[in-house]
Amino acid sequence: MRIDVLTLFPEVFEAYFGASIIGRAVAAGLVRISYTNYREFTHDRHRTVDDKPFSGGPGMVMQCGPVFDAVEHVCRDDDAPATKILLTPQGERLNQPLAAELSRAEHVVLVCGHYEGFDERIRIGLGAREISIGDYVLSGGESAAIVLVDAMVRLLPGALGDAESAENDSFSDGMLEHPQYTRPRVYRGMEVPEVLLSGNHADIEAWRRSESLKRTMQRRPDLLSESDRPKKS
Ligand code: 6GU
Repeated sequence: MRIDVLTLFPEVFEAYFGASIIGRAVAAGLVRISYTNYREFTHDRHRTVDDKPFSGGPGMVMQCGPVFDAVEHVCRDDDAPATKILLTPQGERLNQPLAAELSRAEHVVLVCGHYEGFDERIRIGLGAREISIGDYVLSGGESAAIVLVDAMVRLLPGALGDAESAENDSFSDGMLEHPQYTRPRVYRGMEVPEVLLSGNHADIEAWRRSESLKRTMQRRPDLLSESDRPKKS
């Protein structure tokens, strides 16, 4: 998979994408991540990428020119159309099935905005999918892009070791993950559930499923009603 991040702030990505599972996936060649600054596609002395909205209003708006030029630049050698994604609070909400779908793309172009938003013609003309990571406001698309890249890359075949298998993760089967314990057996009077020490794998599996279901019913009943519906493919 190839990921191009288009941003005014390329420096904010490097620490996160260099560490842990994403860092290892990059080192193993499962994903190649490149950064492009919109300012490389400006033509004035101040390298302007934004302007005041027509008819007034607060804030500044990202202009079309640098965004279209940057996208076309990173797609210049593509045989097939890339998956272009505009990070915006007005987009489709990211969830695990969407992350899984996007993780199968060959080339993903992440278009991060800053300021009050994008010129509407970026939406109209770019042919990008719009994605939001939740119902709250961020100062820019960069932190959302980090979340999206993490969710996609850990699903690439080979990104997780056996010990980290994604199969038990929360949401992978539409439910929250079961509780986990490690040593010591007793900590401040709190004991590890007996069944986990039993060595009986069938019992342990049944306990995990039941805890998973209980936790999902208590905390996220919305997930259960969703997983009861027939799955869209
Ligand atoms: Cl993708 N961008 C911004 N600016 N805010 C958000 C978001 C994205 N997703 C949730 N809030």
